[in-house]
Amino acid sequence: MDQRDEPAASAHDREVARHYDELTEDFYIKSWNPDHIHFGLFEVGECPEKGEPLAGSEEFARGLERMVEAIVTPAMIEKDHRVVDAGCGIGGTAIHLAKTRGCVVTGVNLSTRQLEIARKKVLDAGLDQRIGFEYGNCSHSLPFGNDTIDVVVNIESACHYSDRERFLHEVRRILKPGGRIVAMDWLMCDGLTNDQHEQYIRPLFEPWAMRSLESRSTYTRRLRGAGLVVVEFEGFNGKDVDNQRLVQNNYQILRGLESCGLLPAKLRRLMEKFQVLDVAWQSGCFELGRYCALKPE
Ligand SMILES: C[S@@+](CC[C@H](N)C(=O)[O-])C[C@H]1O[C@@H](n2cnc3c(N)ncnc32)[C@H](O)[C@@H]1O
Repeated sequence: MDQRDEPAASAHDREVARHYDELTEDFYIKSWNPDHIHFGLFEVGECPEKGEPLAGSEEFARGLERMVEAIVTPAMIEKDHRVVDAGCGIGGTAIHLAKTRGCVVTGVNLSTRQLEIARKKVLDAGLDQRIGFEYGNCSHSLPFGNDTIDVVVNIESACHYSDRERFLHEVRRILKPGGRIVAMDWLMCDGLTNDQHEQYIRPLFEPWAMRSLESRSTYTRRLRGAGLVVVEFEGFNGKDVDNQRLVQNNYQILRGLESCGLLPAKLRRLMEKFQVLDVAWQSGCFELGRYCALKPE
C-alpha cells in the first residue's frame, strides 16, 4: 500500500510519524543504535555504565538482539514463514529474522523516513528478496489478506496506537489459524491509584506521542476480546533495572550537552522525554511487558 491510498491519519498518528521522522537520524541512529529502537535485555555488567554513550557499543548491540530473541522465540518461526513486523522501525528486526530464520518478512510503519532508511538497509544487505516494507497505520488496518500470515511481531510500537483493540482484531484477521503474535510493549503496572496514574503515567503521553498505556490485565482482556489465546505474558519488573539505567544515561548525557550549550532545540524536547520516563520507571508504576498469543485453529 502507498501512503496516498491510506485514509487520512488522525492528528495523533501524524504526531507519532513526526516524532520518528524527526528523531530517527538525529538521535536514534546516531546515539541509540543503527538497527534497533527498543530497550535491550542485558546480562550483568553488559549495560553501558552511567554517562557512557550507547551508540557503537557491542555490548549494547548484543543486549538489543537478545531482547529480539526473547520476544520472537515463542513464535517458533520457521524458514519460509510469512512474518509481519508491525511498527518495524528501521528494519533491524526484519533483517535479524530473515538472516537467522530464513523467513519472509514485511515491515509496516507510518514513518515514511524510517521506511526509506529500512529499504536502503535491506538492499545493502542483499535481502530484498526476503524482506519488503509497506506504509501502514496499525491503528487502522494491516495491509494483508485474511489468514495469510504465520507470525506478527510487534516491538515497542503498540503503546503509540490510538486503537489497540482494532490492531489486535486486525492481527487476528490476518493470522493463519495457529499463527502467533509475539510482542513487547510499554505498560503501566496493574492496580495503580488515580493519583499514581496522574502523577507518573499521564506525563509520559504527550512527550512520547502516546494516548494511553495498557496494564498486563487490560492487555490480556483485549487479546482475549480479539479472539486470541494468551500463551504467556511476562512483565520485566525486577529484570529491567538495566533498562532503567539506559533511560538515566540518556537523560544525563542530554542534560550534560545542554549545560554546555551543545544541545540542539529538537533534542531538548528529547531530554524532557527521558526525564519523565525516568521518574515513571523509578516510581514502580511503569514496566515493560512481553507476550505471546495465538489464533486458535
Ligand atoms: C520504539 S519504535 C520500535 C521500532 C522497532 N519495532 C524496533 O524494535 O526497532 C516504534 C515504531 O512503531 C512505529 N509506529 C508507531 N505507531 C504506528 C502506527 N500507528 N502504525 C504503524 N507504525 C507505527 C513507529 O514509526 C516506530 O517505527
